[in-house]
Amino acid sequence: MSRTRLRVAAALAAVLVAAGIATGPAAQAHDRQPTLAELAQRHGRYFGSATDNPELTDPAYTRLLGSEFDTITPGNGMKWYATEPQQGVFDWTEGDQIVHLAREHHQRVRAHTLVWHSQLPDWLTSRTWTAPELRAVLKKHIQTEVRHYRGKVYSWDVVNEAFNEDGSYRETIWYKTLGPGYIADALRWAHQADPGAKLYLNDYNIEAVGPKSDAYYTLARELKAAHVPLDGIGFQAHLALQYGYPGTLEENLRRFSRLRLDTALTEVDVRMQLPATDEKLAEQATWYADLTTACLAVRRCVGITIWDWTDKYSWIPAVFPGEGAALPWDDQLAPKPAYFALRAALGHRE
Ligand code: XIL
Repeated sequence: MSRTRLRVAAALAAVLVAAGIATGPAAQAHDRQPTLAELAQRHGRYFGSATDNPELTDPAYTRLLGSEFDTITPGNGMKWYATEPQQGVFDWTEGDQIVHLAREHHQRVRAHTLVWHSQLPDWLTSRTWTAPELRAVLKKHIQTEVRHYRGKVYSWDVVNEAFNEDGSYRETIWYKTLGPGYIADALRWAHQADPGAKLYLNDYNIEAVGPKSDAYYTLARELKAAHVPLDGIGFQAHLALQYGYPGTLEENLRRFSRLRLDTALTEVDVRMQLPATDEKLAEQATWYADLTTACLAVRRCVGITIWDWTDKYSWIPAVFPGEGAALPWDDQLAPKPAYFALRAALGHRE
């Protein structure tokens, strides 16, 4: 381009910018709709999605995953069966892939999960262990995995699903062999291995005030009193239209905040009996908005993660036959009423 033409182009660009017309990449960024993450950030919150390794070969999927969210949770890749498939043999392939992808997109990682009764490797479940043996196995697993991801993840779901619906301890291999103290031990071991990671207990059906969330409240208070390194409680929020909305969610989040704990909605989806109808999708949208409003109303509710973002990759149909349509985007990757309800609840005026 000649000097004159350059000057003309620059002047034209200046006029267009003054008129609010997009001229380049920066202006395009201004023009486009803010993402859920950007809207959440205006409230000092994050907005995340879970993902899973097999889906990462789908470019349309990964494009939105990388742009709409600021936090990522590996749906399976950091679980015990994946990370320690044989005793003492660690495999970071799946977790690392997600951590690298998140880093490329400037996203934080909510790491999930260290101690759970489900998705354990056979070598662990197919024999019996004495308490000292199992304690050593647990300690080694936690410390090796947390050390591997040290400085690379924002938080860890240290213990997952420790309680029954009535608030009694779930009779897992951990509880039966080690007693309830395994929870404090796990938190301490994780903290030693990465003092910078926020450490969570995480569970489902604890969104409302009730026996199961009461059990967490009591345990959290005890752990805090004993100076056990616990930073937050994760409310999975796998909701289902047929069971009703947890109306005491905000009050429940608030009581944990008062214990000086962070809270987060960690695995949100709102499933329904199929087929999805306009009425059900509208009801679902209201639930997504309401749970967002509840989190925004509670100072220490730090963010929301949906359990993947599109119905195409939701875990629901495989686990709850006849149910589905649980996420804010449909299986064609098109936004549903729930997506627009989320935007509105986060304060965006369309
Ligand atoms: C689910 C995964 O999404 C599925 O792919 C897998 O088959 C089973 O586990 N609570 C949790 C998550 O804490 O780890 C579960 O994830 C969903 C329920």
